[in-house]
Amino acid sequence: MSTASETSKTEEIIMLTTSRSIGIVGAGPVALSLAEVLRRAGYATVVSSRTEHQTRDGETAVVSFTAAAEMDIVFFAVRHDASRELAERLRPLLRGKLVVDVDNAWLPGHYERAGLSSDLTEGQWMANLLPDSRVVRAFSHIDWNLFDRGLARPAYWGAGYAADDPESDAEIREILEKVGFVPVSAGSLAESAGVDVDGVLWSRLLPAAQTEAALRAR
Ligand SMILES: NC(=O)c1ccc[n+]([C@@H]2O[C@H](COP(=O)([O-])OP(=O)(O)OC[C@H]3O[C@@H](n4cnc5c(N)ncnc54)[C@H](OP(=O)(O)O)[C@@H]3O)[C@@H](O)[C@H]2O)c1
Repeated sequence: MSTASETSKTEEIIMLTTSRSIGIVGAGPVALSLAEVLRRAGYATVVSSRTEHQTRDGETAVVSFTAAAEMDIVFFAVRHDASRELAERLRPLLRGKLVVDVDNAWLPGHYERAGLSSDLTEGQWMANLLPDSRVVRAFSHIDWNLFDRGLARPAYWGAGYAADDPESDAEIREILEKVGFVPVSAGSLAESAGVDVDGVLWSRLLPAAQTEAALRAR
């Protein structure tokens, strides 16, 4: 049985973890939908754009890309053809941080122009651009209008993700769990084609067991 002081220490750790701030590079439907669920899960979250402004709901501050990159954890949710330039520009601010890559090169020509191939997943591509950050891949296979499904029915829907080291793996699992999803590992970034465009989970949100089965059946 834990003592009172151990319990309060645990609560303190949970509070500290939950109070980590999240900056989302991007202010499109994906960024706004993510910001909403992350805020509901207890994270202080901002989205960002080329022009700073206030969103219509008045709740989400749209800050500069630089201000978003200064947060504790940074998500990328922009048009894919803007990702390279933004990653290169923000690289110094992202050093050592968890970077959650949500981008997909699905628009015509973006995949080829980025140099992606069956030998280079989206996650590896972003990790190559940010060698001093801890890049993980998550939320990429889920339609933005389904991001709140986890909070509506906690611990039911599976969310595929990929990470290259145990610390980043634990951190992204925690974020996915806090927004109500069951994290299902697709493996390392090199193994994460299943959560990329046209992968086995692409544009699908399945119950956790089916998510696991889809990834294992590859
Ligand atoms: N559709 C989905 O359900 C889904 C699900 C998961 C992941 N994704 C991926 O998530 C990413 C975001 O998707 P989205 O539909 O929200 O938005 P989007 O329309 O693809 O991108 C919007 C964001 O990209 C920025 N942007 C566009 N061109 C730019 C440029 N030349 N330089 C700098 N920034 C630029 C915009 O900045 P401004 O605000 O300044 O215009 C805006 O913040 C995409 O890569 C998409 O494939 C989509």
